Amino acid sequence: NDLRPIRSPRGVPFLGHTPQIPSTNPVAYFGELSQQFPEGLYGLEIAGIEQVFVWDPDLVAEVCDETRFFKQIDKTPLAHVRDYTGAGLFTAHQHEEEWGMAHRVLLPAFSQRAMKGYYGQMLEIAQNLVGKWERKEGQPVNITDDYTRLTLDTIALSGFGYRFDSFAKEDLHPFLKALLEALVESLRRSQELPMMTKMRKADDRKYRANIQLMRDLVESVIKERREGKGTAEDDLLGLMLEATDPETGKGLDDDNVRDQVVTFLIAGHETTSGLLSFATYSLMRNPQVLAQAYAEVDRLLPGDTVPDYDTIMQMDVIPRILEETLRLWAPIPMIGKSPIEDTVIGGCYELKKGTQVNLLEGPLHTHPKAWDRPEEFDIERWLPENRVNHHPHAYKPFGNGVRACIGRQFALTEARLALALVLQKFKFADTDDYKMDVKEALTRKPGGFELKVRSRREHE
Ligand code: HEM
Repeated sequence: NDLRPIRSPRGVPFLGHTPQIPSTNPVAYFGELSQQFPEGLYGLEIAGIEQVFVWDPDLVAEVCDETRFFKQIDKTPLAHVRDYTGAGLFTAHQHEEEWGMAHRVLLPAFSQRAMKGYYGQMLEIAQNLVGKWERKEGQPVNITDDYTRLTLDTIALSGFGYRFDSFAKEDLHPFLKALLEALVESLRRSQELPMMTKMRKADDRKYRANIQLMRDLVESVIKERREGKGTAEDDLLGLMLEATDPETGKGLDDDNVRDQVVTFLIAGHETTSGLLSFATYSLMRNPQVLAQAYAEVDRLLPGDTVPDYDTIMQMDVIPRILEETLRLWAPIPMIGKSPIEDTVIGGCYELKKGTQVNLLEGPLHTHPKAWDRPEEFDIERWLPENRVNHHPHAYKPFGNGVRACIGRQFALTEARLALALVLQKFKFADTDDYKMDVKEALTRKPGGFELKVRSRREHE
């Protein structure tokens, strides 16, 4: 018959490919390996688990067919992230009742219409960012850290009525340090044999302490709400505490509400801050695009006009900058799927039921089959007349199917507003000639990214 083996790089007897996987930026390494396999997929054995990596858009199209593939949690780093997000939306097994319940209860809170309700909070926090940068006039600022303050404060305030007040503080909130360390630890656990994890006793104590810190914070957020403090009752937390699922007639239990809040605090900020950081980086590298963005902002928001929701929705250049940034710098660089039954993809590659299949965003989003001049940052690709010609499965920054990102509109609304406000007010100077230094921890962000900010008003 016509079956062909899935090729692999050379491994080591007994240990497979585990020793060669770098402990920092493993997904960047998986992306580099892709260049050796023009057929668009390869296999690796990591910590005793066979994994298949795919990026050819036609193979990806098959893996995105939900009648054949589902989002598997076991055998992936998400199995370890469950240590702190439990059956929250991101890490719930497809078969867990909690996934369907929370999905149905929360979906209306993420429609484009619902975004209007969060706009005031988004604006307030974006103005805090502007205020900080005005105080830093002419000085270097850590762009990624300040966007992290922005996105964390925004999801906490609009979702849970809770104020981190990150811009009032010199250091990032302890929640963020705990989260980063926990993410790194869960990634590490997914790449080593369980025996190794057991031997690292001090790391395990640290991991538990970090998880406790995150949970304590979330318990206090929920407690505040229960005691009637905090703002709107119809935000995410209000819905989770009050709403009943139309299908089961049940509400979410207390542990699940806690896990969802932790989930949203993480999923709701990590990625959007990466998007904004990579977008700012891309604008610095593409002055013609930056000029177009300034022109749009100056046309729609002349002088000190405070942007309203409708103006943000009328933007054209800024949304295309965000889409192109998500193509070249998808903050979630890899997502996992698995066949429901034994199957064959590409007419010849056999995948057994339960195989872990990883979709590599970077190589997919730059596949020459789907993209012209793939490495070029070109926002013209996203003009309506050009996007109709895109390969239907060559762009997956928000994942796929029922497990795709629920917060997409939230992220894009928040990012449009933040970028518009920042460009209305500031010019950037890359005096240290920043070289991209990606830092992966489930999501990826530019590390050590500093620029000097100057007010546009005083220098024009
Ligand atoms: C799921 C990307 C912003 C909440 C996902 C997935 C991706 C993604 C790729 C699927 C993961 C998988 O298949 O394993 C992004 C990007 C964002 C972003 C690139 C920003 C640019 C947000 C925001 C929120 C959010 C702002 C919340 C306010 C979630 C949740 C899930 C999810 C809860 C799990 C959904 C489910 O499985 O039911 N996101 N996300 N995300 N995202 Fe986002």
